[in-house]
Formats: sequence, C-alpha cells, structure tokens
Amino acid sequence: MTAVGIDAVEVWTGNLKLDLAETFAPEKGDDPEKYTKGLGLRASSFPDSYEDIVTMGANASKELMDRKGLTPDDIGRIDVATESSFDNSKPISTYIAGCLEQVYDGDFHHANKGERKFACIAGTQSVDDAYNWIRAGRNRGRSAIVVATDTALYARGDAGEATQGAGAVALLISEDPDLVELSTHQGYGSADETDFLKPNQQFPSVDGKRSVQVYLARMREALEDYESVAGDVHIDDFVYAPFHTPFPGMVRKAAALAYRHVTRDTGVEEELAEGIGRQPRRESFDDDGQYEEAVREYMDALKETEQYRDWYAGTVDPTLSIARDVGNWYTASVHLARISALKTALETGRDVAGESMLVASYGSGAQAEIHGETVQDGWEEEIAALDIDEQVADRYDLSWAEYEQVHDRHNHETDSELEEFTAPEAEFVFDGWGRMGERK
Ligand code: HMG
Repeated sequence: MTAVGIDAVEVWTGNLKLDLAETFAPEKGDDPEKYTKGLGLRASSFPDSYEDIVTMGANASKELMDRKGLTPDDIGRIDVATESSFDNSKPISTYIAGCLEQVYDGDFHHANKGERKFACIAGTQSVDDAYNWIRAGRNRGRSAIVVATDTALYARGDAGEATQGAGAVALLISEDPDLVELSTHQGYGSADETDFLKPNQQFPSVDGKRSVQVYLARMREALEDYESVAGDVHIDDFVYAPFHTPFPGMVRKAAALAYRHVTRDTGVEEELAEGIGRQPRRESFDDDGQYEEAVREYMDALKETEQYRDWYAGTVDPTLSIARDVGNWYTASVHLARISALKTALETGRDVAGESMLVASYGSGAQAEIHGETVQDGWEEEIAALDIDEQVADRYDLSWAEYEQVHDRHNHETDSELEEFTAPEAEFVFDGWGRMGERK
C-alpha cells in the first residue's frame, strides 16, 4: 500500500505578541508564575489589524507552495479547518484560493474546496478527509492542502484570556510523503458537551474548569478505542506524543492520563503504590470531575518517579516548545505540537526517521482522536526549512493599551482608523471587505 501522509508543513504566526508575565499578569494583579508555571505559557500571538484567518492561512499556504515548487494544477483539494469563520455559507478555502490565484499562473477551479468545523479537532479531521480522498483513489495524482487557521480570542476578563493565540499551519497531504506517514489506526472519544460554545458570537462562552474535565474524559475514551484497534501500546512505542495544546498545563494532565495506558509491566505502578501508600486508582468514573481528581492524584504521584520524569522530558515536553510562546491556535495547535517535537529532534541531532508518534487531537463539544504516524526519511529537510523561530522573535510586543485597542478592533468594536503596529512585508493583508488578500 502506498504511503499517504503529511508531505510538508508551513507555519504563520500573528504578527503581534502579548507577554503574559511582563504585560498581562501585572495588569490583572496576578503572580506571573500563574501563567508561566501554572498554565505553562510565556506569551500569546495576536493578529495585527490587517491580519485574519484568511491572510494567515493564505500566507502559510503560499510559503508551502513556493517551498515545494507547486502550481495550482498540483492541488486537487483545499480544505480549511477553523472555528473563527466569518461566513456561514462560503468556505474560507475559497477566500484563500482567491488570494493564491493573485500570485500564481493558473487557478484552483478544479480543486474541491470546503471548510471543516468541530472546534480544534477540525484540523486533524481535515487531514483525515484528505487522507481518505487520496486512499480512495480520487486525487488523480494530486495533493491536498489543509489549512488550520484561527484567531483564538476570548472576551476580555474571561479566564481563557491568558490562553489566546493566533496563527495558521498549512499542511500538504500527499502520496509518498516526506514528513510523516499516517497510520490506519485511529481511536475516538466523542460526546455531546456544552462547556465551550460559539453560537453566532465573536468570542466563546466557556466553562473553563469543566472543559478541562471533558478534555480528559474524551481523551481517555479515545485511548481505549485506539487500543481496541492498535492493540496494547507500550511506553517505548512512541518517540513523541504531540497533544492538542490549549496551554501546556493541560498537556501535563493529559500526558499523565496517557501514561496510565502505556505503563503495563514496567514496574512504575509498584513505585506509585509505594509513593501513595496504595494501588493508584485505575477504575473508570461516571463523573468527569472525579476522573480529573484521580488524574491529578495520579499525576502528583507520577511526578515523583524517575521513569515518568524521563518519559515526560523526552516524549512530551519537546512538543510544547512553540506553544509556550504563541498560546492556543485552536485547529492548528496539535499540528504545531508535532512541529515542535520534530524541531527538537533536529536541534538535538536525533535521527527519528522510522520512529512512531502518538498524536492526540481534541476539540470541544467534544471529541478526541488518537492516531499513530511514522516519521519519514525527508523529515529533517522539511523541518529545517521552517522559520518559526524568526517569526516568533519578530513579533511586535504590545503594551496593555495597544492590546486593548487591537482586541477591540478584532471584536469590531471600534470604527477608528485602522492602526497597524507592524508593517506587512510581502504578505497577504486584510484591507476591509472586498479588498481582502491584496499582496503588499
Ligand atoms: P484560571 O482560573 O485562570 O486558572 O483558569 P487556575 O486558577 O485554574 O490556575 C491555572 C493553573 O495555574 C492551576 O494549575 C493552578 O494551580 C496554577 P493546576 O492546579 O490546574 O495544575 N497556579 C499557579 N502555579 C504557579 N504559581 C502560581 C499559580 N497560581 C495558579 N502563583 C482555565 C484556567 C483552564 C479554566 C482557563 O485558562 C480557561 O478557561 N481556558 C480556556 C478553556 C481551555 O483552554 N480549556 C482547556 C480544555 S478544552 C480545549 O482544549 C479546547 C479548546 O482548545 C477549544 C476548542 O477545542 O475549540 C479550548
């Protein structure tokens, strides 16, 4: 069977930065460590006035096409995953294709386009759709572009405000991929939940504490379902485990949960039992709150074991390096986590070709998906080509007053002249309705 998977990726961050320790915490009267240690975040990426989900997605896609030497004829499908859409009819992929057609010879008239919605997991679902399209033999030798793009903004004063972010990841899904091959093994955990909603409103209504419990409960179901198809997974099976990362502190909890599924016969249970004076709780819970409590207890005990600390430091922590500086990118978040992990491998000179990753996606509402993927021989070249460090370093550092101004702008609360904090350089910009995506 021909391998199908992710051939290449490109990233585009919002051009502004909100520093949580220096700017956000003092304004809120909070200890900066609540954010840097508790949530695990240093800063958020924020969109400048001329940026939105279309411009960020189009900029990432343009970089992807240029780097891979692609023309519109090579692309048979463009899907956008977003939960920040502004149009309930016309998909964002058509706007992005329109931007790209300004700069390439040819057009995307024969490419299938759509928009996927299921909160943050929609990015992975779009990758799945592209995979299935190729596997079904409907691609006529062409590749798919999947764009995960979001402005993950919360109302000012909402508990989620510290976890904001904005950016896009564009992924090329092809036969014989250079980056990772996707496995046929997948597991799901899905239930009708109402902890995070955006019913025709600019910012989400969130029950933040409950959303943490739902994330863990659905992730547990997905792990169980994954094991029902992939068989028992073992601690040494995966070189990295990228999770959906609303903030790194969430992944610390989810990693402890995943660890429960991969520590059979390793001796760690005995070590834990000794640590907490009894066998750690492994039973299922009807109540998600009780379940979170059990995970927390388990996590506290796990942190005391050397085996867990080594596993977390090697397998999970490397997936969080970009998220710490950019916040939650919703649909793109788990795809950034994969990039972070492979970037760490590159920086530490570790050859991970042929190794497996356990990828854990999640979307509120709610659904978790676990799947496996195998790193391909071309991974080093693909990851070395990314300039995410430069993009992150080049962001304009907002003062609090500037942050409030640009937040109002994205909430359409001000009619004042558009203030731009950065100067767009050779990128698509949003200039108001009807003039979207002109290239400066
Ligand atoms: P909060 O009330 O601001 O924070 O909201 P907290 O009081 O719970 O503190 C956070 C952590 O910091 C805690 O750690 C504190 O102990 C610690 P934990 O106990 O949980 O391990 N802390 C400190 N640590 C060190 N020094 C200090 C200090 N003070 C406190 N001085 C909350 C947190 C998650 C509720 C909030 O950020 C929120 O509402 N976020 C938005 C919702 C969210 O991200 N949920 C995550 C799961 S749902 C999801 O991932 C889906 C999503 O991406 C959307 C989608 O799918 O579309 C959101």
